[in-house]
Amino acid sequence: DSNKFQAIISHCKEYGFIFQSSEIYDGLSAVYDYGQNGSELKKNIRDYWWKSMTQMHENIVGIDAAIFMHPTTWKASGHVDNFSDPMIDNKDSQKRYRVDHLIEAHVETLPKEEGDKLLAKMDQLLAKEDFGGLKQLIEDSKIKCTVSGTSNWTDVRQFNLMFSTQLGSVSEEASEIYLRPETAQGIFVNFLNVQKTGRLRIPFGIAQVGKAFRNEIVARQFIFRMREFEQMEMQFFIRPGTQKEWYEYWKAERMKWHLSLGIPAERYRFHDHVKLAHYADAACDIEYDFPIGFKEVEGIHSRTDFDLRNHQEYSKKKMQYFDNDLDESGKPYGNYIPYVIETSIGLDRTVMMVLSQAFEEEDLSTEGKPDSRVILKFPPRIAPVKLAILPLVKKDGLPEIARELMNECKTAFRCFYEEKDAIGKRYRRQDAIGTPFCVTIDHQTKEDGTVTIRYRDSMKQERISLKAVKELVDKAIL
Ligand code: GAP
Repeated sequence: DSNKFQAIISHCKEYGFIFQSSEIYDGLSAVYDYGQNGSELKKNIRDYWWKSMTQMHENIVGIDAAIFMHPTTWKASGHVDNFSDPMIDNKDSQKRYRVDHLIEAHVETLPKEEGDKLLAKMDQLLAKEDFGGLKQLIEDSKIKCTVSGTSNWTDVRQFNLMFSTQLGSVSEEASEIYLRPETAQGIFVNFLNVQKTGRLRIPFGIAQVGKAFRNEIVARQFIFRMREFEQMEMQFFIRPGTQKEWYEYWKAERMKWHLSLGIPAERYRFHDHVKLAHYADAACDIEYDFPIGFKEVEGIHSRTDFDLRNHQEYSKKKMQYFDNDLDESGKPYGNYIPYVIETSIGLDRTVMMVLSQAFEEEDLSTEGKPDSRVILKFPPRIAPVKLAILPLVKKDGLPEIARELMNECKTAFRCFYEEKDAIGKRYRRQDAIGTPFCVTIDHQTKEDGTVTIRYRDSMKQERISLKAVKELVDKAIL
C-alpha cells in the first residue's frame, strides 16, 4: 500500500539511507544520493552479488569497463535506432509522458478488472507500434494529469532515452558520445580481451557492476526509476543451440540468489516478456511484490549472438571463439560467434526491495502503555552496521572495555559505538537502521567478563562472554 511506501521513503531520509539529489536546490528529479547507512547497505548488496556471481562460479570473471564508450558501440548495439519509447505530450501542462507509464499510473486508480483490460489493450497496441491507437486509448480513458483537468494531447512520438555529451573541447573536432544506458556493452566489446587473456573456455561468464544512465521521462516511485542508476550484469557465453537450457539454468540460479536474501518465495514471480527487446529471443523478469505491487527487479535475457555479431560487423574484428570440444560426429565444433544469456539486476531496485521487505512498524504496547518501534529486519550480511557497542554508563571504566571490543571488531566488520542516552533509546535507534546485534557493557562485565547481547528481531537479551562477541557476529555475516 502507498502508506507503507511513503513511510519507507520518509524513514530512508530520516535515518541517512537515501536523500533527494541536490536537495538544498529543491532536488533533481529521479536522481538520488545514498547517505551513510544507504551507501553501506548498497555496498553490501553489491559485494554479495559480486561474490555469488564471480567467486562462487569458477567460470565467471569480473571486469570494470568505462562509462564512456566509442559512439559506434551504440550504433552496433541497436540503442541509437531502437532505444526509444513512445511518448506523448500534454499541451495544457506542457509535460511529456512515456505512454506506458502514463497508462500504468492511470490503471492504479481503476478497479482491478477494468485496469487489467486497459493494460492488455495497451500491450497489444505497443506490440504493434500502433501510435494512433495509443493516442486514442489515452483520450478514451480520459486520463487526467493536467492542472486544468482538460486533456489535450499531441501525437505519440518516439524519443531516445540516451544522454549525450561532447568528447573533446568545442574548438577541436568534438564528437558526440553517450553515457551508457546499460553496462552490458562494456562486456561485449571486451569479450575477446577477457576470453583470450583469461584463457576462458565456453561456457563462461563476464560480470560487471556499474552506473547506467537513461533519460527516463516519467520520474516517480522513488529509487525505482532513476535517471542515474547502477546495474549488476552478467553475460554468459555459450554454444549456439544451447540457449534454452542455459536460459532455464540462469532463471533458476538467479531465483536461488533472491531467496538467499531471506525473502520468501511467494513475494517473487517470473513475468515472461511478450514484446521482446530488440536483442532478445526469450526474456523474463523476476518481479518482487513491492508495497506498490509486483514490479521488475531483474531481467534474464537470451540475447542470441545479436551483440557480438553486430560488433563484428561494425568493428570488422572477428568476434569468434574456437571450440575444440567434439560434436556428436567426433569433429570439433570449430569457430562460431557465441550466444549469450544475460542476467541484469538493478542495484538500486534491489536496495528498494530489501528495504520494503525489511521495514516493519511493530506495535509493542502493553496494558495501559502504548509503545511501538520501527525496525529494518535486514539479513545480517547486508545490514549497514553489524554490531552496536554500548557502555551502560560513561564512567567506571566501562567505556574503556567497550573501546577495546570496538578495536577488536572494527577491522572485521562495521561497528557503531555510542555512550549517550538511555540504553532503551539507543536500542531503538539501532533497530531503525537494522543493526542485528547490540552489546551492552555494564558493571557485571568488570566482574565476570560477560556482556548483554540484544537481538534486533526478537529483542531477546542474554549474557555471553565478552570474548565470544566477535565470533558470534562473524558467523552471522558469513
Ligand atoms: N542489459 C539489459 C538491460 O539493461 P533492462 O531490463 O533495461 O535490461 C535491467 O534493465 C535492470 O536494470 C532492470 O531490471 C532494473 O532493475 C534496472 N533498471 C533499468 N532501468 C532503471 C531505472 N531507470 N532506474 C533504476 N533501475 C533501472
